[in-house]
Amino acid sequence: MQITDKLTGAEETARQFVYMDKAKEYVERLAAKLERRPTCCVTTFGCQMNARDSEKLAGILERAGYELTENEEADFVIYNTCTVRDNANQRVYGRLGHLGSMKKKNPHKKIALCGCMMQEPAVIEKLQKSYRFVDLIFGTHNIYKFAELLVQMFEADGMVVDIWEDTDQIVEDLPIERKYPFKSGINIMFGCNNFCSYCIVPYVRGRERSRNPEDILREIRALVDDGVVEIMLLGQNVNSYGKNLEHPMSFAQLLREVEKIEGLKRIRFMTSHPKDLSDELIEVMKQSTKICRHLHLPLQSGSTRILKAMNRKYTREDYLALAARLRKEIPDLAITTDIIVGFPGEEPCDVDDTIDVVKQVQYDNAFTFIYSKRTGTPAAAMENQVPGEVVKEGFDRLLKVVQDTARERVALLKGQTLDALVEEVNEQDDSLLTGRLSNNTIVHFKGDRSLIGEIVPVYLKECHGFYYLGELVR
Ligand code: 5AD
Ligand code: SF4
Repeated sequence: MQITDKLTGAEETARQFVYMDKAKEYVERLAAKLERRPTCCVTTFGCQMNARDSEKLAGILERAGYELTENEEADFVIYNTCTVRDNANQRVYGRLGHLGSMKKKNPHKKIALCGCMMQEPAVIEKLQKSYRFVDLIFGTHNIYKFAELLVQMFEADGMVVDIWEDTDQIVEDLPIERKYPFKSGINIMFGCNNFCSYCIVPYVRGRERSRNPEDILREIRALVDDGVVEIMLLGQNVNSYGKNLEHPMSFAQLLREVEKIEGLKRIRFMTSHPKDLSDELIEVMKQSTKICRHLHLPLQSGSTRILKAMNRKYTREDYLALAARLRKEIPDLAITTDIIVGFPGEEPCDVDDTIDVVKQVQYDNAFTFIYSKRTGTPAAAMENQVPGEVVKEGFDRLLKVVQDTARERVALLKGQTLDALVEEVNEQDDSLLTGRLSNNTIVHFKGDRSLIGEIVPVYLKECHGFYYLGELVR
């Protein structure tokens, strides 16, 4: 049922706040029974977009009276799932089994599942059949209704399932609990219209919808007032931002407006589709003092024949020309990428083509994936699926080149002093801080934890493969 789609965004927001108060009554009753504040844990699988969604879930849970923890022993555990590749799904099933055993010992424990994987009918069937202990299941399109769903869960006897096929609704101004006080992701658009033939995202995240620029800018200003210095603008394909707005605007224009926000120090964005990357964007990046020197530009394959079958709408030559233009215009730019090996019909010579592009572009980092067949996508129905051992051979060959190239690229920074945003105390050695350079490279250096959230100059002393050991320059 999608009756709520008839409300305006603002009316829907108000409605959800009423449900938050109602959910709070249930949480208070539980607290009285337990004689302590109930805890909840939001576990995120997948991309930055999911991480941001989890912050929205956490915001509502906190408001409803839960204490947030990272421990899955919590009274309420919610998995925000990903389904881009099958191994993500398998991980969820594995860990869910474990949650089920915990629930046997602690019957008041509640378990909820949401995110991309829940948009697949076969998944819901499996959960309804074999994972009856799950209390609440919802999808990507009705996440803004989480408060209302929480109340339904408290009032229901069995499993509550609410999945929508699509939505055109964007609901603003719901509470958000940020993971980091000094940096934040911001959704600028939802969904994807590209239908790359291997990809399930357009089916589970729906059609492309851009947020109004005023809403985005207002959110960023509020974040900056709250101490945020670095933002990441999020969308499946940020380069096509604004096309479906009432008053269309380009992504480059949006960036120009974001740049003007006083107090904001760094701007990142993710992800760019090569086919939509404009000269205007390159120009804006070049002139900007805030846009970070990092571009994630998924290649997927370096073979024009495979790119065509993938429905990527660019050729190997188009991509190489674009990368050359970026290198010429912004010499200190780090370029990273995603590559898939084993797409149906791929031959060793296609992998050679991909390797050749990696060598020419000189990526600072590349995420390499083995093709995963996703039910319902055009590629899943292709007959020429590649045998596992052939995929493995191509994957290993590619990975070696990717790692060697990335090491060489990262080593080029040695001896420079560059600004790093201090993000946390190092996990292995608490005398060290971990910072991130504008180009996304990580550097560890001695320093006091009071520097967390600051941008400080660091001398890049020793290169250790993909990261640096450095020294704080005062
Ligand atoms: N198999 C393997 N990798 C995939 N990706 C998307 N769909 C698939 C799939 N079916 C990869 C792409 C994308 C990244 C987020 O995940 O490289 O850029
Ligand atoms: Fe998937 Fe292609 Fe859309 Fe990226 S651009 S989410 S790979 S369909």
